Amino acid sequence: GTTLGASAAEKGRYFGAAVAAGRLGDSTYVNLLNREFNSVTAENEMKMDATEPNQGQFTFTNGDRIVNHATARGMKVRGHTLAWHAQQPGWMQRMEGSALRSALVNHVSRVASYYRGKVFTWDVVNEAFADGSGGGRRDSNLQRTGNDWIEVAFRTARTADPGAKLCYNDYNIDSWSAAKTQGVYRMVQDFKSRGVPIDCVGLQSHFGTSIPGDYLTTIQRFAALGVDVQITELDIAGSGSQQADNYRRVTQACLAVARCTGITVWGIRDTDSWRYPNDSPLLFDGSGNKKAAYTAVLNALNEG
Ligand code: G3I
Repeated sequence: GTTLGASAAEKGRYFGAAVAAGRLGDSTYVNLLNREFNSVTAENEMKMDATEPNQGQFTFTNGDRIVNHATARGMKVRGHTLAWHAQQPGWMQRMEGSALRSALVNHVSRVASYYRGKVFTWDVVNEAFADGSGGGRRDSNLQRTGNDWIEVAFRTARTADPGAKLCYNDYNIDSWSAAKTQGVYRMVQDFKSRGVPIDCVGLQSHFGTSIPGDYLTTIQRFAALGVDVQITELDIAGSGSQQADNYRRVTQACLAVARCTGITVWGIRDTDSWRYPNDSPLLFDGSGNKKAAYTAVLNALNEG
């Protein structure tokens, strides 16, 4: 193939980008999106604060702009995200206990129902594990409603949209040896053994200038539990051949595992990245030119 999306499709995979509704009027951005990608993730527009700004009042206008752009062009849509400790609307931040649990269930149900049939994968729960050496859950108002809040969210999402792949999504679970990775692994293993509906693990894959040496192992081990793996928010610091080599390694690792079903980069041009200007971590420069990293990914997709 001659584009990321077409080349990934030849390998039975998708290649996506995080998209901001506010950039859909930028022709350079939109031309790159339409030419290169066959999947999109809303960078912010489907989060809890965006979709339920006041309790019980749902707003899908900006999410719909992204969904409509994508579906009109045959692109898939990843939903991001139904439940997260961050980006909660103010009313939810101030809630706790059983009232919060009910609000969570209602939110997951309403948003997943609204997008039923339009979203192929949901990040049902985002970033629920703690960093550091403990391997346990992150403290949050959601966690304090009870340790079962994650499985409740997954069961609710399955009922609302039985056709969507349901993912647990997190960062710093890329290295197999990390305690956080082990904690998520044990949760997925437990969910599979008890029949809690989970289909996928999202490895966000926000990287510095190196990729964990055991990244492929992580993908293989999650896949061996009987879930898909998706690389959901890829961006890599650095520049030139070092950055390109790292992008090549990530692409090759996904292609090496049948259950690694697709890659999403977290933005299109460096200047669209949440990490800019500290880093220029994406595949296109600020003018929309292909970087060495782009060519490395494209070649890896076509070789793999
Ligand atoms: O749109 C408002 C603007 O009106 C306002 O003037 C401005 C002032 O702060 O804020 C703008 O909203 C910002 C929004 O991005 C759009 O640019 C928010 O403050 C800012 O918090 C928000 O950041 C997003 C961040 O998630 C929120 O946690 C980033 O764009 C987005 O890339 C980032 O994405 C996350 C994933 O969802 C989860 N994994 C990590 C990843 C990177 O942090």
